[in-house]
Amino acid sequence: MFSTLIMFACAYLLGSLLPGFWIGLIFYHKDIRDEGSGNIGTTNSFRVLGPVAGTATLVLDLLKGTAAGLLPIVFHSTINPMLVGIAAILGHTFSIWLKFKGGKAVATSAGVLLAYNPQFFFMVATVFIVMLLLTSMVSVSSMVGFSFALVTSFFYHDWILTVVAAILTGFVFYRHRSNIQRIINGTESTVPFGWYHHY
Ligand code: G3P
Repeated sequence: MFSTLIMFACAYLLGSLLPGFWIGLIFYHKDIRDEGSGNIGTTNSFRVLGPVAGTATLVLDLLKGTAAGLLPIVFHSTINPMLVGIAAILGHTFSIWLKFKGGKAVATSAGVLLAYNPQFFFMVATVFIVMLLLTSMVSVSSMVGFSFALVTSFFYHDWILTVVAAILTGFVFYRHRSNIQRIINGTESTVPFGWYHHY
């Protein structure tokens, strides 16, 4: 019981680590919350700090989710990795280092999926990339990617995967409220590639 609590605490603390925010402060002397969308995730890191910081943020945010999903192996626990991963996602979104504020949970959630089922992860990542090439909007690609994950999870006959995918999809939509408003207004920012960006 005690080691289970420690495992969930470790997952939460892993998720709480904020590479995008810290890379901005340490290497660029910028608080990325003050620019762009104000988010501390990959997209805003790319937008405000550039491709090197953006890529580092993506990899580190993803890997912390993966590391959290692998904690049951480290702790010799039979608890489903997706459940442990939720603690990391909560850590990322309600970080102890930002007075319980944080990111939109996309890369960290993807990292948890990678730890749980790499094949499933790559399928969802492919949908995300196709959507990004079509829409040039990370927010749209993220929401469609998670919706796809939820629908596809039904074919796996794994109820924990489906329940967690449903929670994550709902959560990702909730965290993208401002993006949804900008999409409706036609003011959502685009990445400098993809079909929509050129028109
Ligand atoms: O990484 C979150 C992404 O889906 C949207 O980020 O900065 O455009 O609100 P942002």
